Amino acid sequence: MQAMRVPTTRRYLMCPPRHFAVDYVINPWMDPTQPVSADVAMAQWTELRDTYRRLGHTVEEIEPQPGLPDMVFAANSGTVVDGRVLGSRFRAPQRAAEAEHFRRWFVEHGYRDITMPEKINEAEGDFAWTGTVLLAGTGFRTDPAAHAEAQEVLGVPVVSLNLVDPRYYHLDTALFVLAEATDTTRAQIVYYPEAFSAGSRRVLQRLFPDAVQATREDAECFGLNGVSDGRNVVLPVEATRLGDVLAARGYEPVYVDISELRKAGGGPKCCTLEIRKG
Ligand code: ARG
Repeated sequence: MQAMRVPTTRRYLMCPPRHFAVDYVINPWMDPTQPVSADVAMAQWTELRDTYRRLGHTVEEIEPQPGLPDMVFAANSGTVVDGRVLGSRFRAPQRAAEAEHFRRWFVEHGYRDITMPEKINEAEGDFAWTGTVLLAGTGFRTDPAAHAEAQEVLGVPVVSLNLVDPRYYHLDTALFVLAEATDTTRAQIVYYPEAFSAGSRRVLQRLFPDAVQATREDAECFGLNGVSDGRNVVLPVEATRLGDVLAARGYEPVYVDISELRKAGGGPKCCTLEIRKG
């Protein structure tokens, strides 16, 4: 029998995809010739939000803006550790204006320690907090110099990882934290090794010898874009192979349909900015 996994209550910031569309191409999943429906995206997103609430988490919402179809991917707009907010700076000009809307949301909601980055930084798209260190991806979006900037602003150790497969352009498409820990080697993570350079794979192996290693099948359906509260793991409905592996380790897979959002190259985690109050 597995040890009982203990969930912790989370606070998330999400943005309803009222203006969702695929109008431009900034990752290999986006195809503007394929039909997309903002209504279907809204229904799937609502189900995701309600799933978090059902699991006991708090979900706050930011107002979506016309002309910013990717704003639903809130994870790209802020990294919050111990109540300190590091904003974002997008690589693609099409998304640049999102950063300011989120900065303002944090200001209006009483956050006082907010820093906007100088370097290109797509926030939790490329940053994953393990409870001890911030795992930081680079290769496609976030500038490697943003890793040092995040370390300085947030005051947490940063471990840089190189992404090498354009389909897994953000760290959160290739890795997520299952259970945080204040002792690095005890944090539980799952990752898709092929998305990382050989050196970064060795780093992951060294830091997390007990990690779950995902397969290509898991990665292709955005299974690595999961959201865990330490027990319940929200996954795309197709990610049943990975869900079974996690269940065997004592986690509870919770499936959601994100097929419409995937047309823009996003999944559950991309829609979910975690606010760690500290
Ligand atoms: N179309 C968006 C982009 O390419 C998708 C972002 C997905 N977000 C994420 N955290 N991986 O920027």
